[in-house]
Amino acid sequence: MNNMKYVIGIDLGTSATKTVLFDINGKIIADASREYDLLQPHNGWAEQNPSDWYDAAIETLSKVVSESGVDAADIVSLGISGQMHGLVMLDENCEVLRPSILWCDQRTGKECEELTEKLGRETLIKITANPALTGFTASKILWVKNNEPEIFEKCRHILLPKDYLRFRLTGEFATEVSDASGMQLLDVPNRKWSDVMIEAVGIKPEYLAKVYESPEITGYINSETASLTGLSTSTAVVGGAGDNAAAAVGMGVVEEGKAFTTIGTSGVVFAHTDKPKIDPEGRVHTFCCAVPDAWHVMGVTQGAGLSMQWFKNNFCVEESREAEESGKHVYAITDSMASGIPVGCDKLIYLPYLMGERTPHLDPDCRGVFFGISAMHTKAHFIRAVLEGVTYSLYDCLLVLKEMNISPETMLLCGGGAKSKLWKSMICNTFSLPVATSKSAEAPALGVAILAAVGAGIYSSVPEACKAMTAVDPDMMLPEENKTEEFRKYHSVYSSLYKSLRSSYKDLASI
Ligand code: XUL
Repeated sequence: MNNMKYVIGIDLGTSATKTVLFDINGKIIADASREYDLLQPHNGWAEQNPSDWYDAAIETLSKVVSESGVDAADIVSLGISGQMHGLVMLDENCEVLRPSILWCDQRTGKECEELTEKLGRETLIKITANPALTGFTASKILWVKNNEPEIFEKCRHILLPKDYLRFRLTGEFATEVSDASGMQLLDVPNRKWSDVMIEAVGIKPEYLAKVYESPEITGYINSETASLTGLSTSTAVVGGAGDNAAAAVGMGVVEEGKAFTTIGTSGVVFAHTDKPKIDPEGRVHTFCCAVPDAWHVMGVTQGAGLSMQWFKNNFCVEESREAEESGKHVYAITDSMASGIPVGCDKLIYLPYLMGERTPHLDPDCRGVFFGISAMHTKAHFIRAVLEGVTYSLYDCLLVLKEMNISPETMLLCGGGAKSKLWKSMICNTFSLPVATSKSAEAPALGVAILAAVGAGIYSSVPEACKAMTAVDPDMMLPEENKTEEFRKYHSVYSSLYKSLRSSYKDLASI
């Protein structure tokens, strides 16, 4: 008799929802994904319809349950990971009041000023471990209050994207510390809602969901979900985690000294810490991590994979056609074009600020730049410049961590961008660190599946479950000193460009 138990991880991303069914050794049994649209009604705005997330989750859950052939009663638990910070508002009948305002939306500059004026930057950093940030949920709530008062009046529940999905799957209003840290409403050092912040944004405490630790059980699959997906109502749903905290667990980054870089739509350089270490300048985020009683520090590049996706969608029509005809992935084609170009792209530099930038500039108004364009540059130069520019922005994140005395000795790499050997070598050489790729292509989904296994009592702690369920690609790439020198020369010009452009960015934004 097969006594194997199974767990599911759902990763509600910005471009798609991916659902993966794992056995309790971390082996993928079935997976499915569904993409949805990103709505950009104005420059710097980004929204999505929560119903698209729900439809994608139901479709992908049904697929993995039916395709795996696993008995639903053996799927003991499920975890949800999600894009962080997004604002979902529900009315008294639990209906969605407006499209969700997402993490990369930059409309809330004024509201951030309002928060900073009201509470002071130091208090904000002391309580929420971060200065007021346009990406975070609190300023989005204030924006709705200021600009759509009729909607704000009707609001009775405030949820993050993955917690909205949890609500639909289980009927429970719950969240957990890692994702809640990005709302700017949590007292991050003490892992509980902050009354000061709740008052500052003018909501009632009961609008917010109950906060759990990430591996705790928050509810069970409800009968509607069970009948739509084939899941059982005995499947527990654990807290889960924000996508980066989840990826950390999926890569075994659960102890002091460990770090990873992810290249998804956004890019992140993430380090685990046993204590809540805070950058006094607020250039990186300090959040509760998915391991109870631990935190993490992370720098964020707003437009990482997004930059490549934007370039490909707008300028690589032929390459996309070639990919379709040859069965190759379009990024394999663009990578091979870029590999023919030398480091520094014959003096072409890209700033990846398509959606403003967080680390290290905290500037919602900056935008992308190609600098140094010459008549000798080809499309291949531009592709390589995009890859290098994103790498430099990630290196900026590492530099801030180093200033805080967080100096990882090796770096794990995950996210869609980790599939590119070329990008990996750029990270390895620019960071001057040995880099290993996570074997799990779906680190956030695996991470929350691991939390689900802990919640269900299969493993007694997150580190123990990580040992049993994660694997790292033994293929460690080592940096080459001469290349590091080359990359760093360009990085230094790259860094000077933002400083030169800062006031022009403000001028452009104010037109
Ligand atoms: C983290 C962040 C992004 C989103 C989307 O602070 O905004 O990583 O979670 O992936």
